[in-house]
Amino acid sequence: MSTLRHWLIAGDIHLGEHNPRQVALLVKLIRTLAPTLAGVVLNGDILDVTEVHKSTAGRRQAVLPGRSPLYLLEEIVLAKCFLGALTRAVEPGTTIQFIEGNHEVRIPRLVAAAVPELHPVTPTLKELLGLDELGIGWTPYNSHFLVGDWAIEHGHRCNIHACKGLLESYLGLNAIQGHSHRLKEYGHQTPDGRTLYGVEGGHLRNPDASYLPRQRGQWQAGVVLLTEVGQDRYQHSLLPFGEDRVILGREVVTLKTNEARSFWQPARDALVGNHTRLIDAVIDGRLMEV
Ligand SMILES: [Fe+2]
Ligand SMILES: [Fe+2]
Repeated sequence: MSTLRHWLIAGDIHLGEHNPRQVALLVKLIRTLAPTLAGVVLNGDILDVTEVHKSTAGRRQAVLPGRSPLYLLEEIVLAKCFLGALTRAVEPGTTIQFIEGNHEVRIPRLVAAAVPELHPVTPTLKELLGLDELGIGWTPYNSHFLVGDWAIEHGHRCNIHACKGLLESYLGLNAIQGHSHRLKEYGHQTPDGRTLYGVEGGHLRNPDASYLPRQRGQWQAGVVLLTEVGQDRYQHSLLPFGEDRVILGREVVTLKTNEARSFWQPARDALVGNHTRLIDAVIDGRLMEV
């Protein structure tokens, strides 16, 4: 493994509607990179928060009847399982940053709209997930996190050149955004002849998630790796995820049979007794066999 310093950027996991094998593979990739890893950025929509939005509320319930009140709790348990594994996979001193996405921000927005007097005293997702205790930093929605010459934000301005607006708003910086679920790069020429890159960071969602319409656009599973090439300068690589493998230079990181199941076992244990079979379906990614 190279001694170059890396940052790994992963977003749009949508826990509760995630791909369980690819999330376990992500943590295995991070463990492989750990000796050279300066930081991990979780770029929004890490939780799905399906039931706290007027456009999707009730759709999971239609697929798995009778479980609506438990969904957010389950997502929080899944997130604690994932974040715990992530913090154990990195070496001490590695930065982990959680950027709030439009799915996470649904919770404070709902409380503010429905019960405004409770909003100031309602626990935030940051508190519910115990990010301070885990040593994970928090970047609020519509803000960005800087890594050298890159600005990273969840983003919500999707079009065919989704990163163009971000590049223009971060004059002089490259940009990585989530939200579009595409894994692609977009070059932007500056007036002084330089090329800035805008990167859309892929996703690790279950493409067969319960409430999605049939038309899903051009999504690609994967993450982005930044490799330090100079003082505060980074080169990007797109890392597409197969169902159980990701190629990292000359190395192939592969998820072995049953690794996904043991990865999610703490969440399964935490939720046991609550309609185990149905919860297994959520942990395992709906109808997918782990
Ligand atoms: Fe998303
Ligand atoms: Fe999003």
